[in-house]
Amino acid sequence: MVNFLSEGLINDTLCIDYATAASLAPDASNGAALYTSTCVMCHGTDGKQIPIDGLGIGGIARDEPAVEILHIIRVGQPGTSMPSALVNGWSV
Ligand code: HEC
Repeated sequence: MVNFLSEGLINDTLCIDYATAASLAPDASNGAALYTSTCVMCHGTDGKQIPIDGLGIGGIARDEPAVEILHIIRVGQPGTSMPSALVNGWSV
């Protein structure tokens, strides 16, 4: 808990517009490179290899608040071997 409070908290209003849930200044080419190197092995090239509530991760990202997606990607999915951005040392 102390570790999370001292290192895990971020000001997510710097990267998400709370009014529209849209990403602010997303870096799509960096995201695509990280997805290809780290996520594609489990989620597939179209993000649908592991269905979640009948959706791929693109559908989850569109349906659920960007804030939740941001934090899942940052800290990983509990109970799975999904890697986290924190462990990988990625920036927000
Ligand atoms: C080792 C396999 C693995 C890798 C690699 C992986 N994931 Fe996942 N991911 C999972 C599993 C398993 C779930 C949970 C599926 C479920 O809830 O049924 C999941 C769930 C998710 C969810 C949805 C969480 C929810 O319930 O709303 C998102 C978003 C996601 N992953 C994004 C990513 C991203 C982005 C990457 C790359 C940084 C990644 N994953 C890499 C296995 C992986």
